[in-house]
Amino acid sequence: MVNTHRKLILNIYCSAIILPQICICSQFTSSSNDQYNENPGVFPVATNGEPFPWRELRLPTKVIPLHYDLFVHPNLTSLDFVASEKIEVLVRDTTQFIILHSHGLEIMNATLQSEEDLRYKKSGEKLTVLSYPAHQQIALLVPEKLMADLRYSVAIDFQAKLADGFEGFYKSTYRTLGGETRTIAVTDFEPTHARMAFPCFDEPLFKANFSIKIRRESRHIALSNMPKVKTIEREGGLLEDHFETTVKMSTYLVAYIVCDFASVSGTASSGVKVSIYASPDKWSQTHYALEASLKLLDFYENYFNIHYPLPKLDLVAIPDFESGAMENWGLVTYRETSLLFDPKTSSTSDKLWVTKVIAHELAHQWFGNLVTMEWWNDIWLNEGFATYMELISVNVTYPELQFDNIFLNDCFEVIKSDSLNSSRPVSKQAETPTQIQEMFDDISYKKGACLLNMLKDFLSEEKFKKGIIHYLKKFSYRNAKNDDLWSSLSNSCLESDFTSGGFCYSDSKTTSNTLTFLEENVEVKDIMTTWTRQKGIPLVVVEQEGRLLKLRQERFLNGVFRDDPEWGALQESAGRLTLDKALDLTHYLQHETSIPALLQGLDYLESFYHTMDRRNISDITENLKRYLLQYFKPVIDMQSWSDEGSVWDRRLRSSLLKLACYLNYAPCIRKATELFSQWMESSGKLNIPSDVLKIVYSVGAQTTEGWNYLLEQYGLSLSGAEKNKILYALSTSKHQEKLIKLIDLGMEGKVIKTQDLASLLYAIARNPKGQQLAWNFVKENWTHLLERFELSSFPMRIIISGTTSHFSSKDELQEVKLFFESLQTQGSYLEIFQIVLETISKNIKWLEKNLPSLRNWLLISI
Ligand code: BES
Ligand code: ZN
Repeated sequence: MVNTHRKLILNIYCSAIILPQICICSQFTSSSNDQYNENPGVFPVATNGEPFPWRELRLPTKVIPLHYDLFVHPNLTSLDFVASEKIEVLVRDTTQFIILHSHGLEIMNATLQSEEDLRYKKSGEKLTVLSYPAHQQIALLVPEKLMADLRYSVAIDFQAKLADGFEGFYKSTYRTLGGETRTIAVTDFEPTHARMAFPCFDEPLFKANFSIKIRRESRHIALSNMPKVKTIEREGGLLEDHFETTVKMSTYLVAYIVCDFASVSGTASSGVKVSIYASPDKWSQTHYALEASLKLLDFYENYFNIHYPLPKLDLVAIPDFESGAMENWGLVTYRETSLLFDPKTSSTSDKLWVTKVIAHELAHQWFGNLVTMEWWNDIWLNEGFATYMELISVNVTYPELQFDNIFLNDCFEVIKSDSLNSSRPVSKQAETPTQIQEMFDDISYKKGACLLNMLKDFLSEEKFKKGIIHYLKKFSYRNAKNDDLWSSLSNSCLESDFTSGGFCYSDSKTTSNTLTFLEENVEVKDIMTTWTRQKGIPLVVVEQEGRLLKLRQERFLNGVFRDDPEWGALQESAGRLTLDKALDLTHYLQHETSIPALLQGLDYLESFYHTMDRRNISDITENLKRYLLQYFKPVIDMQSWSDEGSVWDRRLRSSLLKLACYLNYAPCIRKATELFSQWMESSGKLNIPSDVLKIVYSVGAQTTEGWNYLLEQYGLSLSGAEKNKILYALSTSKHQEKLIKLIDLGMEGKVIKTQDLASLLYAIARNPKGQQLAWNFVKENWTHLLERFELSSFPMRIIISGTTSHFSSKDELQEVKLFFESLQTQGSYLEIFQIVLETISKNIKWLEKNLPSLRNWLLISI
């Protein structure tokens, strides 16, 4: 079943209309006049009241950075840092000012030296610094014009507090086994936060080399992108680490950490030293990551036939981290649960996640770090490729994980969101930091990856591989855009083919069998831009008329029905099959031997159950429960409460037992209660099989005693994997006062860290007893949430959609709409608002249309 779907949906050549080409101008070709001189009257006003000489969000290209010397001294007691930098710049065109990004930094001094000044050791000339916070820019005004083709050195002294959030140079804390709280300092820059740590040309196109020095106390270590060359003693017993100069790279990939972490290390086949760092008490959870990263690094170096260019690669588990992980070159940072694996409490799904994230971030060392998109509109070139490479690398390095199933699932998932009108094209213009951050979504990651996988099948794996290697080699240490990828894929002769005198033909007309059906001269670009420049995916309808087959293509849209006013603009859509027919298919599920297919089917049935349960439609809820337990009883009863079997046997066990206990299936509750009591009696020492841990905790959390005990254990556990399971269990309580307590703890950010607030609110909103609570909380505490997370950050978007998109009544829709409108009047707008509103409307329509059929079908089926 799964394979047929895959062929149908992913192997179709889309001949849909190509939208007019969007003009994306290169950074380095913008106007050559100084804006200042043209019309000084219309310039923005700097903080000191003087005109600020630059009005664009993007930086001018007259001055470009070549090299940064960066010195940083964080103080982990006073929680601030002092720093200085020297940026060597090349002036491409005469100018009177240098514009840099800088956000929240106090600039103490800025000076300029020409090459001549440097040669004669002449001290720098002091520069006037203007600041324009709305664009996160500063202007350095030079007394005399900077001359074209000359190099200058700009020196800046600056300082700031270590940030409170998760961006820039921020503080993170952890608790030791002995109960002591320790602080570390860590960076996270992508996409636009390097400017919070040092004034810089913070756009991906401005690649430069970085020489970093970090001053620290002797109880700490410092890590950065490159290995340390030396350590120098400074006054006051301080030490200063000097790191090797980096390769040419974008600012968003710079990273440094001051911490007291422990590490394990190994050496890849190529000699690269790989280390995993974690807080000292978590050292025992680092070994799987070391094994996986060594295997994956070997894989990528071989596959791309391009060496990982740095001498070392560190992977660090950061106690407070906003996203899942970040691919800083040579110093990849992870949320603890994305890197650490605790054999006692990490489940098979946790292992899949850790492997996926490592595979993803290591793929970025090539796709993203070595070759970077020119601008954020093409972030899918980074994220889509890293996601695609997960599939290629994990299939080879960990075949037992059967990663295809995960990947395929992602493709189905993104088809669902792409079938909404509020979806967007893969490539889309993005200018403001908010718009840029919004580009990190399922369309860039999942649709991007699924399109690449489709293209691979279309061109043949060999040719595709050759093409992407060509792309990586050609654009190494440079930037690329969509068209560069397409032309590399059309013309995948490698330079080495020529230099070795080998034979290579330029086959832009491609050679796969499929192409014999197409016109001549079909270029990869012509095919692929139909997928990347317009939203949605095509649905091909095949109709038989006698011996003729008629093929028709239209946009695949979800939930637009025949009696809908939208029907005429949008034509047909999902929903062509009546619900009864789809439900009839679920009878077959009990015989399904493919676990991923079975899981998918169960997922649909479960989602019906959740919808009915949340809406309190008790007759359908009860009947669905009976249907599920009746049909799946044999396979539920077969499950053991252990960690035995293959990865997918284990995932099936977790899902089935979770469902059974959720539906109050007596044998499930009995077993889980028994295990939970034993665990409590052993003071948490008993090892419960990791795949059923979450289920046992969730059943245990239903009594006040169990809930309180779990909360206590949450505070003590050193395993992020276990803490996630406990937090989920706590969030399933039926008692509102307990759910409120969790939210309070999440807002306080001590026992429950702020980094886990989004998934907590998401989980509470999934609980029928918590959905209203979570939503009210979001509405009433919006400004408090914005003090913790940036508006368009991952957590904020999870909170917004997680607490609203399951709503399915007109009143709820109206309420959400009003709330979003009130935010818009305050100047906050996000794409996700439109997606949520459309999703709720679809839910309402779905219920209107299908509730009676679901009710009747259940009556017949049970
Ligand atoms: N480059 C991203 C991290 C990131 C996300 C930066 C959003 C800026 C905005 C990183 O490579 C990434 O994609 N992380 C994922 C994990 C991945 C396995 C899907 C994440 O954080 O969820
Ligand atoms: Zn990524």
